[in-house]
Amino acid sequence: MENAGMWKKLALVVLAIGFVSGCTRINDDLGQVFSYKHPKIEARKKLMRSISGSFKSIKIATEAGGGIGPMRKIMWAAQDITKAARKIKGGFKHRTMAGVTRATSKIWDNWGGFTRNATNLATSAEILALAADGGDMTGVKNGIKTVGANCGKCHKAFRAKKKK
Ligand code: HEC
Repeated sequence: MENAGMWKKLALVVLAIGFVSGCTRINDDLGQVFSYKHPKIEARKKLMRSISGSFKSIKIATEAGGGIGPMRKIMWAAQDITKAARKIKGGFKHRTMAGVTRATSKIWDNWGGFTRNATNLATSAEILALAADGGDMTGVKNGIKTVGANCGKCHKAFRAKKKK
């Protein structure tokens, strides 16, 4: 795998040249071509995956019924989503596109819209946590729907479709 290492080094050198000369466009393209794992991009994807993990555990706990145990789990996981959602703004602060990413430049062109989506996610997860705290299964189910809709809204507006 000598070759792969060499290409990676070359990619880094080319990226560095791009950064120095301030050619964001070229950098974006090269980052994609060389599948560069930009640390800032990796960090924001990790944040998203943690949100996704919490959301999945909420759905699983809901299937277990309305007992106090599952409701606790739902509440904690929803609180985790709220905390993570509040980090979205910081995670996407820099317009970083040079690497493997499905983020679109609309995020920074419409920063207000993007951050509003993040705030909506935080708020909806808070409401979900309150429903779980109150043992209210109908509220939990509605809360899950709203949270899910907030994921979808932001992805639809600001995330590129998966490449085939
Ligand atoms: C404020 C906008 C926004 C909200 C709200 C949002 N996402 Fe995302 N999400 C994004 C963007 C943008 C990306 C693409 C990031 C990239 O590729 O650099 C993404 C990527 C992801 C990924 C892929 C991560 C990876 O490893 O490539 C998952 C999974 C995900 N989101 C799950 C969720 C779930 C589940 C929710 C709701 C509970 C959610 N997201 C809410 C904007 C959002």
